[in-house]
Amino acid sequence: MPTFVSINPFVALSNMVPTVALQGFLIAMAALTVGGVLLDIMHKKNVKYFFENAKKAKEKATSHVSTGKKAKIIVETVAHDVLTSGEFCGWKRRVAHLLGMYGTIIFWVTSAILIFKYATPTTSNTPEIISQLWHLGAAMTCLGAYWFWFFLRVDLASEGNKWYRVVFADLFVLSLVITSTFGLAWSYLQAEGSAWSNLFLVLFIFSNIVLFGGVYWSKFAHMFYKPGAAIQKHLAEADGSRDGLPEPADAPKQFGLGIKREAPRHY
Ligand code: HEM
Repeated sequence: MPTFVSINPFVALSNMVPTVALQGFLIAMAALTVGGVLLDIMHKKNVKYFFENAKKAKEKATSHVSTGKKAKIIVETVAHDVLTSGEFCGWKRRVAHLLGMYGTIIFWVTSAILIFKYATPTTSNTPEIISQLWHLGAAMTCLGAYWFWFFLRVDLASEGNKWYRVVFADLFVLSLVITSTFGLAWSYLQAEGSAWSNLFLVLFIFSNIVLFGGVYWSKFAHMFYKPGAAIQKHLAEADGSRDGLPEPADAPKQFGLGIKREAPRHY
């Protein structure tokens, strides 16, 4: 294992800036997230719509779902749709999302531990495992998000767009993966004693500001909305209201063999 992955990069940084500034930055990023999500909720009125829609769906219910059954559906949805990204049909997209999701969670949690517990010039006792997990989280995010970016995106896989075509909707995935990339590069160059590490530190800070400052405009908030939407979808299936949608058709294939000429893509 390369040695830089066992080093807490925030210890050396605390020689340049006071630890309280590092902690303040992290708190500011958390505040930007909360603020961005609240603004999003106020602007789109999506939470209001969600509850109104759930109430309307209840009126269309064709069967009663007991509290025990509801609890079972919620537990199953959390285990399947949320914790194991079960909403993705294709295994590649599912694995890429799992890598990105768990990589990001590990990266954020260990960043908080490294900064709040071990980032002072006199700290020499950061447990190696925490620094290793920080680097692993960043690497998992890079693996999942670059895989998604270069090969799996819908407009790339089905519409044949080029990997370098960037649209505003890519703000979340790009700022996410670029932040992890700059974090890894900064840590590596710092451990090597390279002066370039300062440049990557600035880029790491800037990309974090774009990621967390962009919550209102990007897809960031889906990680908070999707679990609720998935639970509501499965409850609506169980009580027969199905959000006013018809049941999936079980019609026989009627398009001849031509449909097999191109392999189907399942997102
Ligand atoms: C730290 C947590 C998470 C991260 C970092 C993350 C990351 C991502 C990324 C990078 C994308 C691709 C976005 C794009 O199209 O540009 C994505 C899409 C998606 N994520 Fe997540 N995600 C997280 C949590 C969740 C959770 C908790 C759920 C579900 C309960 C979820 C469900 C989905 C779904 C269904 C899509 C694809 C459809 C869509 O774009 O709306 N994600 N996620």
